[in-house]
Amino acid sequence: MLVLGIETSCDETGVALYDNARGLLAHEVHTQAALHAEYGGVVPELASRDHIRRTLPLVRLVLARAQMKLDVLDAIAYTQGPGLAGALLVGASIATAMAYALGVPAIGVHHLEGHLLSPLLSQRPPQFPFIALLVSGGHTQLMQVEGVGRYAVLGETLDDAAGEAFDKTAQLLGLGYPGGPALAQLAERGRRGRFRLPRPMIASGNLDFSFSGLKTAVATLVRGRSLGDDERADLATDFQEAIVDVLVAKCTAALATTGHRRLVVAGGVGANSRLRERLDAASVRGFDVFYPEIELCTDNGAMIALAAALRLAHGIADARYAPTVRPRWELSGVSAG
Ligand code: KG4
Ligand code: ZN
Repeated sequence: MLVLGIETSCDETGVALYDNARGLLAHEVHTQAALHAEYGGVVPELASRDHIRRTLPLVRLVLARAQMKLDVLDAIAYTQGPGLAGALLVGASIATAMAYALGVPAIGVHHLEGHLLSPLLSQRPPQFPFIALLVSGGHTQLMQVEGVGRYAVLGETLDDAAGEAFDKTAQLLGLGYPGGPALAQLAERGRRGRFRLPRPMIASGNLDFSFSGLKTAVATLVRGRSLGDDERADLATDFQEAIVDVLVAKCTAALATTGHRRLVVAGGVGANSRLRERLDAASVRGFDVFYPEIELCTDNGAMIALAAALRLAHGIADARYAPTVRPRWELSGVSAG
């Protein structure tokens, strides 16, 4: 089953070829970070226009890398949602038109399903069932994953997503957009303990999160003050430590309450090395942690092709030639129970 995957939900154009038997054959991502940087955030109309420019050349490139032609495809998958409506429509329209022309199914994929299955593409893939921590720019969720298409939400953020908190705090520290990776890099130089920051909802007794107060605490600290280089690095360190403390505490609580022994971390913030270090350290308490390859943590076409291929293999793929998109879409909407 050879599937072409197209991801255009936000500011990355991702295209990949995945085969059930041979694995990931090729994948390419074009990031629009430079395009949006001067605006300090994603400009939806610019994102859509850039996806239009990039998608077909990337499809050609991926096919060339795999030395394949379009006519060998068994299906074409695209991100159906959640995401920016215009950006989603680009991938949906291209995928659906190509699938119709080739006479193969067009499969709409939930973006978060792609993220949570992405560790299956790694050298050391997890077995089902597992607990998944999804930490991206738009979402922070703990999921119970019983198998392909069988997902239950255990907890989620009540306000900002973890990646959003990284990006907004990075902006407060003058690190530009998207600031998450830059903040993480700065945090490596800092020393812990100079700033006392809250760990929101760490003892809430449930598996929900809240990060907007943490960002506000940083805003209050930097207001009317110009920080020196060392202070900025220390603040980055203490901010990262606060987020990581909360994420690690909630993951271990989710494992303890469900009795699961496998944890999967996915989404852009899953690339954070301090988070990985702390989860690896916590795993001595009796669980295994699995991560996607670093390059597959952030948005990409590989996870979309993979999710569609697995859904096809399980007979639960929703194929139709209507490029419908779902900018707001709960993951529970794709769960088979
Ligand atoms: O999954 P993703 O590519 O896009 C969404 O679906 O949102 O995640 C992007 C998010 C951004 O907020 C970015 O700042 C964050 O992931 N991110 C990181 C790191 N790398 C990416 N946050 C913290 N540390 C990192 N190393
Ligand atoms: Zn994402």
